[in-house]
Amino acid sequence: MEANSTAAKLADLGTRMDDAVHASGAQAVEKQHARGKMTARERILALVDEGSFTEMDEFARHRSTAFGMEAKRPYGDGVVIGLGEIHERPVCVFSQDVGIFGGSLGEVYGAKIAKIIDFATTTGCPLIGIDEGGGARIQEGVVSLGAYGDIFLRNVQASGVIPQISVIMGAAAGGHVYSPALTDFIVMVDQTSQMFITGPEVIRTVTGEDVSMEELGGGRTHNTKSGNAHYLAVDEADALEYVRELVTYLPQNNLEDAPIYEFTETADLDFTDHDRTLDTLVPDHAAQAYDMREVIRTVLDEDEFLEIMELYAPNVICGFGRVEGRSIGIVANQPMVLAGCLDTKASEKAARFVRTCDAFNIPVLTFVDVPGFLPGVEQEHDGIIRRGAKLIYAYAEASVPLMTVITRKAYGGAYIVMGSKHLGADVNLAWPTAQIAVMGAEGAVKVLYRKELAAAPDPATKANELIDEYNRTLANPYVAAERGYVDQVIYPHQTRSQVIRFLRVLRTKREALPPKKHGNIPL
Ligand code: HXC
Repeated sequence: MEANSTAAKLADLGTRMDDAVHASGAQAVEKQHARGKMTARERILALVDEGSFTEMDEFARHRSTAFGMEAKRPYGDGVVIGLGEIHERPVCVFSQDVGIFGGSLGEVYGAKIAKIIDFATTTGCPLIGIDEGGGARIQEGVVSLGAYGDIFLRNVQASGVIPQISVIMGAAAGGHVYSPALTDFIVMVDQTSQMFITGPEVIRTVTGEDVSMEELGGGRTHNTKSGNAHYLAVDEADALEYVRELVTYLPQNNLEDAPIYEFTETADLDFTDHDRTLDTLVPDHAAQAYDMREVIRTVLDEDEFLEIMELYAPNVICGFGRVEGRSIGIVANQPMVLAGCLDTKASEKAARFVRTCDAFNIPVLTFVDVPGFLPGVEQEHDGIIRRGAKLIYAYAEASVPLMTVITRKAYGGAYIVMGSKHLGADVNLAWPTAQIAVMGAEGAVKVLYRKELAAAPDPATKANELIDEYNRTLANPYVAAERGYVDQVIYPHQTRSQVIRFLRVLRTKREALPPKKHGNIPL
């Protein structure tokens, strides 16, 4: 074949493409598979719709010469970027290849990620980053640090414009974790993914602590302890499936609404047997728990509910569902854990979720059964004031439709915080079992009648009388309903139908905040 012929040039392109696809080499692929992991490209192909991936910059290569780098210039430079579709909607993706320079980030690698973030931001489509690697490429020095800075800047500029989702699929160190931390969601894989700023070796040297990589920054650690991650996948396929599902609840960008899905229920809002189960859900005794997920499931279409941070602060439940085929964010106290109290972790978890919904035009539906903020020295010293304030801020700032259903306790500050009308919620409903008051009956009676009880011939009987009186006069939904703090007291079985009716009208809600550069949420 003539070297300069068209046929030769086409053949040459084919060879180069093949080189790019196999840039890490067979050994690296084998090593990855032996660890139960996919390669960077396999992950993208498993993430996006079949046949939809289009690669960019596959021939990009580093120009570094230090430390013998000129001898090894693999195509792609260790990261695969491009476009694809998920359920036929466009997404931008990058996937880091740990088989090339340990997945470490240099100048060209960084520029490729910056390019795909720019592409996602200007076209308004979600960005999904798959992360694995050793952080800044040591051989490229400050240039790789600069490249990280360029990425961080773009992550921040894209924040609230397009959904950004990170999937951690191996050890991710240094800068490889700060970019994900700036995104909206982090998915991790149990046992095969870790995130840390400094690894076990450095920690051993500096502090003398002996910790394994998994214990330090494994998926379970970040899903249960640090709160850095939003989902713990059982394997890589599960992680990617979660992302595919997550994007169905999100709009392409902040100027759009989430997609509307067909749903099969009849439109006449008849009550089902499922709805009726709510009428007997709340126990007679205030100290007895019930599962708030039962309420959530009844209200959402066909039981579809995608939890966010399920393993972290389970005293509050956050997640996405659909009502009449449209996305909705759910925030709910869970009476089964810590009696549904708000603590520092739950406040931050819920605050972040409300802000995520607000950024992406997703209404928030809040279910309330909360005895208050969790008392304790540890909580106070841990900043429950500052961290609880985040939740107030998030609700008060949100301009998406906000609906709240009080099922039982709504005491004290927690009543105000959990989507009350005072903070700007549009509609507040209460079940007849709602107890909206400064505190529970037993506590209130002790505070108000300490002397009377001490002097009573039978303090226990007297206390019971006073508790009954308190519950009758104050701990019910009717005092709030009298003032319009509650718009409707409903039978529990009416919850779904009333949520639907109000949400239909709230779709056209418009609310403008006063012009300002940005607020100053207590971080
Ligand atoms: C260049 C690197 C590298 C790096 C790893 N490699 N990290 N090359 N720059 N940062 C190379 C290794 O030399 C090795 O090459 C290959 O990648 C695989 O690395 P291993 O250590 O064998 O892999 P593993 O045992 O799986 O451990 C993974 C790891 C570890 C835990 C991520 O590699 C590690 O600790 N790397 C350094 C992490 C780090 O401190 N990075 C800098 C952070 S500072 P060969 O040729 O032998 O296969 C940073 C700045 C930005 O990122 C911070 C912003 C806030």
